Amino acid sequence: MTDAIDATDTPTPRRNPKPAKTTIGGRELKPSTLMMGHGFDPVLSEGSLKPPIFLTSTFAFPSAADGKRHFEGITGKREGGAEGLVYSRFNAPNQEILEDRLAIWDGAEDALSFSSGMTAICILMLAYVSQGDVIVHSGPLYAASEGFVAKVLSKFGVTYIDFPAGATREELDDVLQRAKKQAGENGGKVAMIYLESPGNPTNALVDIEAVKDARDANLKWDCPIAIDNTFLGPLWQRPLDHGADIVAYSLTKYVGGHSDLVAGSIAGAKKWMDPVRALRNTMGGIVDPNTAWMLLRSLETVELRMQRAGKNAAKVCAFLKDHPKVDGLGYLGIIHDERQQDIYDRHCLGAGSTFSVFLKGGEAECFRFLDNLTIAKLAVSLGGTETLASHPASMTHLSVPHARRQQLGISDSLVRISIGIEDADDLIADFEQALQHV
Ligand SMILES: Cc1ncc(COP(=O)(O)O)c(C=O)c1O
Repeated sequence: MTDAIDATDTPTPRRNPKPAKTTIGGRELKPSTLMMGHGFDPVLSEGSLKPPIFLTSTFAFPSAADGKRHFEGITGKREGGAEGLVYSRFNAPNQEILEDRLAIWDGAEDALSFSSGMTAICILMLAYVSQGDVIVHSGPLYAASEGFVAKVLSKFGVTYIDFPAGATREELDDVLQRAKKQAGENGGKVAMIYLESPGNPTNALVDIEAVKDARDANLKWDCPIAIDNTFLGPLWQRPLDHGADIVAYSLTKYVGGHSDLVAGSIAGAKKWMDPVRALRNTMGGIVDPNTAWMLLRSLETVELRMQRAGKNAAKVCAFLKDHPKVDGLGYLGIIHDERQQDIYDRHCLGAGSTFSVFLKGGEAECFRFLDNLTIAKLAVSLGGTETLASHPASMTHLSVPHARRQQLGISDSLVRISIGIEDADDLIADFEQALQHV
């Protein structure tokens, strides 16, 4: 066991870098500008233009008195909190710079980084639930998130109620009333509303504004609304602007963007982050310095990559939508449902580059299509520079019971595609020849 303080109840306050310059003459600097230097002061690192990777588990105090002062700050014996870094399970330079920059994209006060998207989501939920509590969540969720709620949290007396992504205000009121009743019977409270929008792999959108209104009307205590924004963030949807309190990411996807790392994050107001930080301090799960450094590099190009992938996806979908072997698309740039279109218009800034294509036929036709692709790789995951394709019903969602898959629209004819930044016409040529084999 480390002799560094286990700050469960007293989160380690963060050390501030040189005051950040985020405006010039009243002009707010854009995230794309801030990604190049925000939160890093080269003077502290021998003038190095880029942050070095700080491979250290612990940080030396200049003197014993400084050490004492630090711990007095952490333990609340002195006002003002910590005055530096102490131990890398809590925080460290690369992670602090990364978290400062991640917070910018979502307009959040604070952010926390983790070793994977699932570590972020699990520690977030664990920080907020107690025995008897109920989690209300949208469906579908990423299978591991759904499994964590249904199979792991249930072992500790936490139950859940889910609702379909497109639920209306009236349906949400009803769900929250039922959740309140369930929590009352179990001696707990509705502890968290957890959303994923758009849902994976159908791209069904949740009305975040309606969820906030329903929460405010039905729950009279601090029940955070958290949302997994992996599919559209950070460029194409900013959930905190629409009433969410906490935004969660698999940084493995668009933010990392090169399919070469695994990481996650959450962001929101400090009051929502502090309990999660405290639990992360205890459990670990912070992203490692090397991955944090890679993410800083990725963040410099995230806007460019996502813009290009989004344009490519629009071109590819324009080709696919009228193809005789294609039955339909689950693409946010072509929505046929009025309610989904309304949510899209209010919440989304772009249609993304991950979508589903429904082929005429079933598994056999999808497999022939997938096995004949030459540019697109057959792999799970999304948001990388390269185009990926997968068959959710037989891969990522195989563990989901058949009836629930049908209910969620994850049929055998669905292929999920994540478009990369290759040449769009090359991709179209590849899809065209693969469809000839269907
Ligand atoms: C929507 C969504 N959320 C969370 C995760 C989990 O992220 P990670 O694989 O980084 O743990 C994934 C992974 O595919 C995902 O697609």
